[in-house]
Amino acid sequence: MTTRLRATTLAAAALCAGLAAPAFADPVEAELVINDDITIKTVAPAAEHLKGHLDTVYSGWLFREDETRAMTMDDFDNPNMVFAEQALEVWATPEGTQNKSCADCHGAIEEGMKGVRAAMPKINAAGDLWSLENYVNDCRTNRMGAEAWKWNSQDMKNMTVAISVQSRGMPVAVEIDGPAQSHWEKGREMYYTRYGQLELSCANCHEDNYGNFIRADHLSQGQTAGFPVYRLKDAGIVSIHQRFVGCIRDTRAETFAAGSQEFIDLELYVASRGMGLDIEGAGVRP
Ligand code: HEC
Ligand code: HEC
Repeated sequence: MTTRLRATTLAAAALCAGLAAPAFADPVEAELVINDDITIKTVAPAAEHLKGHLDTVYSGWLFREDETRAMTMDDFDNPNMVFAEQALEVWATPEGTQNKSCADCHGAIEEGMKGVRAAMPKINAAGDLWSLENYVNDCRTNRMGAEAWKWNSQDMKNMTVAISVQSRGMPVAVEIDGPAQSHWEKGREMYYTRYGQLELSCANCHEDNYGNFIRADHLSQGQTAGFPVYRLKDAGIVSIHQRFVGCIRDTRAETFAAGSQEFIDLELYVASRGMGLDIEGAGVRP
């Protein structure tokens, strides 16, 4: 996608030059109501910490085509839900040396996991910043005596989809002060760092150029409230860190690994840019 951008050009100029573009195209004006029941806030005044950067925050949903948007609006059309169903079976199945299931300790997922996704990533009891995936694996290894799931494994993605759905319609609720603050600051620094041969930062695309087209892609603000998402192009679920890997690769840079502390910090910062929006995961993307 970025092959037409020239490494020698300044980032913003490079973007403009690379655009075979229809000019600026606003996010659509549309209401996201899932299953005629759950209303999702997709536009909001930007959080105080974004002053001077963004006035309004928009969900990625508003930048997608009608057909793709429609798939997020009805669970029967949302391809994520088949995988959430699979996770519900796993939720109730005892495993590991302790022969325990998630349900044994957390009860029904609808209650046990309500609001959990909205607060991720967050500081754990030991004072470390953890993503949802870390919490799931901590329970598997330390509480069930089962094997950890790989970050981007199907089992992990299915479970994070099923857990995220329990926060739909709830506002992004990450904590960015106290013990989280240093992580948040590191994430912010990464967000504004130019990566790769193209020397592009996250902000060059998602803050300076959202609404513009980069070849066929209508650039959004790169919000994470819709994650995990089902990508039609990949015919599969994409985790937040997987998306970060893809974006950094597009700048032709070496990237961090999914599950790295760098990406957990970046995840916190990016989540905080979505404060005011509601969780809509699991969304659908082209
Ligand atoms: C033996 C009991 C036990 C089992 C089995 C268990 N958990 Fe947990 N889990 C806990 C406890 C205790 C905590 C920490 C206290 C809390 O916040 O609920 C926790 C925390 C979590 C959290 C973080 C919640 C938060 O708000 O911070 C997630 C997510 C989670 N578990 C998912 C799972 C999943 C998925 C499974 C099954 C694969 C599972 N757990 C199995 C006991 C268990
Ligand atoms: C060269 C431009 C470019 C850069 C640099 C870039 N991205 Fe992206 N990103 C895209 C495109 C294109 C998409 C897909 C369309 C969209 O949602 O913007 C995307 C999508 C995303 C999404 C998914 C949004 C959604 O709602 O589906 C997230 C999250 C994201 N980017 C985060 C980042 C982060 C964090 C960085 C910096 C590490 C970054 N991006 C750097 C181009 C870029």
